[in-house]
Amino acid sequence: MEDYMANENIHIIDHPLIQHKITKLRDKNTGTGEFRKIVNEIAMLMSYETLRDLPLTEVEIETPIEKCKSPIRKGRKEVIVPILRAGLGMTDGVLKILPGAKVGHIGLARDEKTHVAHSYYCKLPSHLDERTAIVTDPMLATGGSAIDAIDFIKQRGGKKIKFMCIIAAPEGVKALSNAHPDVQIYIGHVDRCLNENAYICPGLGDAGDRIFGTVG
Ligand code: PRP
Ligand code: URA
Repeated sequence: MEDYMANENIHIIDHPLIQHKITKLRDKNTGTGEFRKIVNEIAMLMSYETLRDLPLTEVEIETPIEKCKSPIRKGRKEVIVPILRAGLGMTDGVLKILPGAKVGHIGLARDEKTHVAHSYYCKLPSHLDERTAIVTDPMLATGGSAIDAIDFIKQRGGKKIKFMCIIAAPEGVKALSNAHPDVQIYIGHVDRCLNENAYICPGLGDAGDRIFGTVG
């Protein structure tokens, strides 16, 4: 195992159902509708593990049999923050598990030549310091987009931040965990490497284009 993978904030969610669905995503013959559906399904499955440490408190209730104390969630509603565009593809999947969550948006696009992301949009809910933020993006390549998105959230007060992606390159995992060591990172699969265009190998191609049916 690579050294950085021993970091306790890095979680690989390699459930067989997720592995199976990732194989379908990788297949270049999987069309837009199916691809979009599977991205959301994976996000829903990953949410279950990603939200394992949500804070709870106890309330007293009465069952048909007797009174008892029982746990319920406490605190402000969570915020899901998709990185536009491709992160949007995961939002509905997370909302299936957290239907009341707020949704913020951060628009970032990588320059095709430099591979550096530039920001074009940011809208986040209030009270970020009291909410768990779940940043979604199917792809963690160089890590630049995820690092910038999390910088935005921290600048606006965000403290408890989780990053959820479906496929990561080792380079991106290292860069993100170095830049934001306090952030919990949830990954479906860590692939081999980046190619000369900073695409993940074997990867699944351009996630945004495959989710929205656009070309390059
Ligand atoms: C893709 C992807 C990530 C980013 C990952 O988005 O969805 O946001 O690249 O690359 P990085 O880790 O090297 O920053 P892209 O910039 O292509 O925009 P899009 O989602 O609008 O297609
Ligand atoms: N963004 C993608 O959509 N795919 C990659 O492989 C790298 C960045």
